[in-house]
Amino acid sequence: MSDSAYISIQNVDKYFGSFQAIDDVTIDIAEAEFFSLLGSSGCGKTTLLRMLAGFETPTNGEIYIDGQPMTSVPPHRRPVNMVFQSYAIFPHLNVRDNIAYGLRRQKLSKAKRYEMVDEMLELIALPEYGDRKANELSGGQRQRIALARALILRPKVLLLDEPLGALDKQLREQMQLELRSLQRQVGITFVFVTHDQEEALTLSDRIAVMSHGRVLQLDTPSGLYERPKNRHVASFIGTMNFFDAKVREAKGPQVVVEAEGLGTLTGTSGERHFSEGDKVQVAIRPEKFVLSEERPNGAGPAYSVQGRMGNAAYLGERSHYFVEVDGASKPIAVSEQNTGVRVAGDDWDSDVWLSWDESAVVVLAPE
Ligand SMILES: Nc1ncnc2c1ncn2[C@@H]1O[C@H](COP(=O)(O)OP(=O)(O)OP(=O)(O)O)[C@@H](O)[C@H]1O
Ligand SMILES: [Mg+2]
Repeated sequence: MSDSAYISIQNVDKYFGSFQAIDDVTIDIAEAEFFSLLGSSGCGKTTLLRMLAGFETPTNGEIYIDGQPMTSVPPHRRPVNMVFQSYAIFPHLNVRDNIAYGLRRQKLSKAKRYEMVDEMLELIALPEYGDRKANELSGGQRQRIALARALILRPKVLLLDEPLGALDKQLREQMQLELRSLQRQVGITFVFVTHDQEEALTLSDRIAVMSHGRVLQLDTPSGLYERPKNRHVASFIGTMNFFDAKVREAKGPQVVVEAEGLGTLTGTSGERHFSEGDKVQVAIRPEKFVLSEERPNGAGPAYSVQGRMGNAAYLGERSHYFVEVDGASKPIAVSEQNTGVRVAGDDWDSDVWLSWDESAVVVLAPE
């Protein structure tokens, strides 16, 4: 466990009968960190969150919060609170009583309770809503009430299981920003579950990408995007071009490869160290390619290849192109900001050049 860990998940397994839902997960989360668990349906996100909350017990391993082992600590004695996907608030209570609900066991004066609720209403930007009935609220407002109800108890850790899942895109994006600034204001550690990679990238300090109960990579958003450690992460986060390749020469993380359609080029290995002759995959993001009608001159990017313009889509801010290159098994996806003279839909010459730099090239083990 690192010294700065506030939550430490140590070699945790979880079996349901003979099915292993969590497989040797080790994660340290710092105090006040916005930490996300990201992965497709069934990968074990909720199970991990429920173990943090104390609703499930690890089969093996231990969870520590603030240095204390949690195994024998029941849910209500843990310094955590959980917000569920289906923003469960009581329809028969007004907003104020919904938010104050968790305080009922504490011996507080009515005035004190009201003061705390008012603070929360301010925080979630619904100051005039105390007397509203819960069934007179929109989905997003209800979501904020559910958050306030969890936050008013001042938990050290807030566990959020796809809290924005039920909201439409626009509201979801607005709530993402609010959630992030709320978390900064109150300084609570957030463990946030989502299967939406954009949401995880926007909100998180760090993200654990999960698959089949394991953590595939634990990194910052830019670390995951720029330096994926394996093919699964590379294809799960954003769009990626993959090329079959063979290692010519390897010096630590620097690898010289021969890649289909691209020729000989140097890149950086994601995680594994490779040896001469290894079959690998070269991964390059669509926006790392520069598209031009003329052959790039010597001052430009290190590598270039000629191809033919295929499908193109104009998306306003940017355009997406597919360029066919001899030797490459699939058209290469290229994404360009529409700041240049040409955009998708214009009459590109069918012969085009793609160029890119060494820093764009990630070398990964094949799946
Ligand atoms: N109580 C249980 N008994 C048996 N299997 C379970 C139980 N709870 C979860 N599982 C299984 O464990 C795996 C992980 O489930 P979990 O709910 O953690 O997934 P998730 O990542 O939250 O998925 P989603 O994004 O769909 O919510 C799934 O295969 C699920 O069927
Ligand atoms: Mg779930």
